[in-house]
Amino acid sequence: MKTPALPMIERVLFTPEQIAARITEVAAEISERYWNGSLKMIGVLKGSVFFLTALARELTIPVKVDFLAISSFSNHSGAPGVVRIAKDLDESIEGEDVLLVEDIVDTGFTARYLMQTLAGRGPNSISLCTMLDRTPRRIVPLQVDFCCFEIPDRFVIGCGLDYKQLYRNLDFIAVMKADKS
Ligand code: IMP
Ligand code: MG
Repeated sequence: MKTPALPMIERVLFTPEQIAARITEVAAEISERYWNGSLKMIGVLKGSVFFLTALARELTIPVKVDFLAISSFSNHSGAPGVVRIAKDLDESIEGEDVLLVEDIVDTGFTARYLMQTLAGRGPNSISLCTMLDRTPRRIVPLQVDFCCFEIPDRFVIGCGLDYKQLYRNLDFIAVMKADKS
């Protein structure tokens, strides 16, 4: 684990080794589910990129990758609910088995909006995979099909998760100090 002296870190929740081991397990579940076909992985920029690439490398089925970006007014402290697509997919998902890959599902507004929007484009199937699930803050009921870790109600950084666009490159997942100083 790279341990830069980051004064804003309260504690490490998951080490790189724990994350890698869990990604291998979840990748095996996904490969088993889609053993008979191929998968279109859709990443939500920017947070899910780190998780998606690690997960994709562990899959034993053929995969395609595409990305979209959203503008969201849903965040840990603010009012949730308004989501729109800021950068759309490059390719159609019609007839494909789609896996939406998220860094974290929090209130659920983002994932529900994306699942509904993508479902409307005629995929053969669509499932949701998230690295982290923070169920204590869920507002919108949502089915999470694949999840690496459930986490408590604390703001986290690392493995794609940012605070003011920083710390996505940490190879561990950490809880930030409450004062974020
Ligand atoms: P939701 O719409 O409330 O589920 O929001 C999910 C999005 O909020 C995630 O994709 C993240 O971009 C962001 N987010 C939520 N919690 C955290 C956190 O603890 N750290 C960093 N980003 C977060
Ligand atoms: Mg996100």
